[in-house]
Amino acid sequence: MERSLTLSLWALICILNFPFAVEAQNQKRPTTDPAEVRALNSIFQQWGLSSNYQNSWNVSGEPCTGVAIDNSTDIKSEIYNPFIICNCSFDNNSTCHITKLKVLQLNVSGVLPDELWTLTYLTDLAIGTNNFSGPLPDELGNCSKLEMIYIDSSGISGQIPSTFANLRSMLIMYASNTGLTGKIPDFIGNWSNFTTLRLQGNSFEGPIPSTFANLTSMLELRINGLTNGGSLAFIKDMKSLEVLDLRYNNISDVMPSTIGEYQNLTWLDLSFNNITGQIPDSLFNLRSLIYLSLGNNKLNGSLPSEKSASLQNM
Ligand SMILES: *[C@@H]1O[C@H](CO)[C@@H](O)[C@H](O)[C@H]1NC(C)=O
Ligand SMILES: *[C@@H]1O[C@H](CO)[C@@H](O)[C@H](O)[C@H]1NC(C)=O
Ligand SMILES: *[C@@H]1O[C@H](CO)[C@@H](O)[C@H](O)[C@H]1NC(C)=O
Ligand SMILES: *[C@@H]1O[C@H](CO)[C@@H](O)[C@H](O)[C@H]1NC(C)=O
Ligand SMILES: *[C@@H]1O[C@H](CO)[C@@H](O)[C@H](O)[C@H]1NC(C)=O
Ligand SMILES: *[C@@H]1O[C@H](CO)[C@@H](O)[C@H](O)[C@H]1NC(C)=O
Ligand SMILES: *[C@@H]1O[C@H](CO)[C@@H](O)[C@H](O)[C@H]1NC(C)=O
Ligand SMILES: *[C@@H]1O[C@H](CO)[C@@H](O)[C@H](O)[C@H]1NC(C)=O
Ligand SMILES: *[C@@H]1O[C@H](CO)[C@@H](O)[C@H](O)[C@H]1NC(C)=O
Ligand SMILES: *[C@@H]1O[C@H](CO)[C@@H](O)[C@H](O)[C@H]1NC(C)=O
Ligand SMILES: *[C@@H]1O[C@H](CO)[C@@H](O)[C@H](O)[C@H]1NC(C)=O
Ligand SMILES: *[C@@H]1O[C@H](CO)[C@@H](O)[C@H](O)[C@H]1NC(C)=O
Repeated sequence: MERSLTLSLWALICILNFPFAVEAQNQKRPTTDPAEVRALNSIFQQWGLSSNYQNSWNVSGEPCTGVAIDNSTDIKSEIYNPFIICNCSFDNNSTCHITKLKVLQLNVSGVLPDELWTLTYLTDLAIGTNNFSGPLPDELGNCSKLEMIYIDSSGISGQIPSTFANLRSMLIMYASNTGLTGKIPDFIGNWSNFTTLRLQGNSFEGPIPSTFANLTSMLELRINGLTNGGSLAFIKDMKSLEVLDLRYNNISDVMPSTIGEYQNLTWLDLSFNNITGQIPDSLFNLRSLIYLSLGNNKLNGSLPSEKSASLQNM
C-alpha cells in the first residue's frame, strides 16, 4: 500500500514535470559560436592573458557567460579588463557572437593574430596602450561591423590596410601615437557615419584627403604631424564639429570665412600651419568655444576687443 502510493506519487510528479522539462530543453542556454571560442582562446594564449578573469567570465569554457552577457555591463567598465561583450540573440536566441573585445593598457606584446578576423561580429575593438608589434592585419577588413577601433599607443605600425575600405560602419577611430605610416586613406571619406578621428603623433603623409568633405557627421577631428597637410576645403560641410585640432600639419590655405558658423565648436586649434587671410569676427562670437589657438600662421588682422564669455584660452 505504502509502496504503491509512493509509486503513484512518483508517476504524478513525472507527469507534472514533463511540460517543464520540455520547456527547459527549448530554453537551453545559448552557446558561443565555436569558431569564435577557438579564436578567442588562441588570441588570449598568444597574448599571455589569463583565461578566467576574477571568475567574471569563463574564457576557457564558454566565454559568453556572466558579465559578458549581462547587458547592464558596459565594455568601458574599468573593473573588467581584458573583457568581452556578447550578443546571444542570434539563431532564435541559441547562438552568442562576441561583439566587443577590450584588452586595454595591459602591456601585451606580440602581433595582432589572424584569428582576430574570425570575430566577424565585432563592433568594438579596444586594444590601445599596449606593446604590440607589426601591422594591422589585412583580414581585419573582414570585420565589417566594426564601429569603434581604439589602437592608440598600441605599438602597431605600418599602413592602414586597403581592406579597411570595407569598414563602412566605422564611427570612432583612435589611432594616435602609433607607428602608422603612409597616406591617410581616401576611402575613409566613404565611412559615411564617421564621427571621431584621432591621428596624432604618427608619421602619416599628407594631404588630408579631399574625400573627407563627405564626412558631414564629424564631431571630433584631430590630426597632426603631416608634412603636407593640403587645404582646409574638406571642412566646408562638417558643421557639427565640436573639436577641430589640426595643428602642425603644414596646411596651406586661406582661413575659412565660414568658421564662425560652426555653432558647436568648443576647441579650435589650427596653429603651426601656413594659413593666411583674416580671422573672421564671427569666430569670437561662438558661444561654445572654450579653446582657440591660431598662432604661427600667416594670418592678418587683429584680435577683436570683445570675445564671447566662454572663451578661456586663446
Ligand atoms: C569554465 O568552463 C568550463 C567548461 O565549460 C568548466 O569546466 C569550468 O568549470 C568553468 N569555470 C568557471 C569558473 O565557470
Ligand atoms: C537587456 O536590457 C533590456 C532593457 O534595457 C531588458 O528589457 C532585458 O531584459 C535585458 N536583457 C537581459 C538578457 O538582461
Ligand atoms: C543583438 O543582435 C541582434 C541581431 O542582430 C540585434 O537585433 C540586437 O539589437 C543586438 N543587441 C544588442 C544589445 O546589440
Ligand atoms: C525559437 O525558439 C522557441 C523557444 O525558445 C521555439 O518555440 C521556436 O519554435 C523557435 N523558432 C524557430 C524558428 O526555431
Ligand atoms: C529572444 O529573447 C528575448 C529576451 O529574452 C525575447 O524578447 C525575444 O523575443 C527572443 N527572440 C526570439 C526570436 O525568440
Ligand atoms: C612590459 O612587458 C615587457 C616584456 O614584454 C617587460 O620587459 C616590461 O617590463 C613590461 N613593462 C611594464 C610597464 O610592465
Ligand atoms: C615592449 O616590448 C619590447 C620587446 O618586444 C621590450 O623591449 C620593451 O621594453 C617593451 N616596452 C614596454 C614599455 O614595456
Ligand atoms: C578575409 O580577408 C582576407 C584578406 O583581406 C581575404 O583574403 C579573405 O577572403 C577574407 N575572408 C572572408 C571570409 O571574408
Ligand atoms: C549610417 O547610419 C544610418 C542611421 O543610423 C544607418 O541606417 C546606416 O546603415 C549607417 N551606414 C553605414 C554605412 O553603416
Ligand atoms: C562624396 O560622395 C559622393 C557620392 O557618395 C561622391 O560623388 C563625391 O565625389 C564625394 N565627394 C568627395 C569630395 O569625395
Ligand atoms: C549642436 O549641438 C546640438 C545639441 O547637441 C544639436 O542639437 C545640434 O544639432 C548641433 N548642431 C549641429 C550643426 O550639428
Ligand atoms: C604657404 O602658402 C603660400 C600660399 O598660400 C605658398 O605660396 C607657400 O609656398 C606656402 N609655404 C609653405 C612653407 O608651404
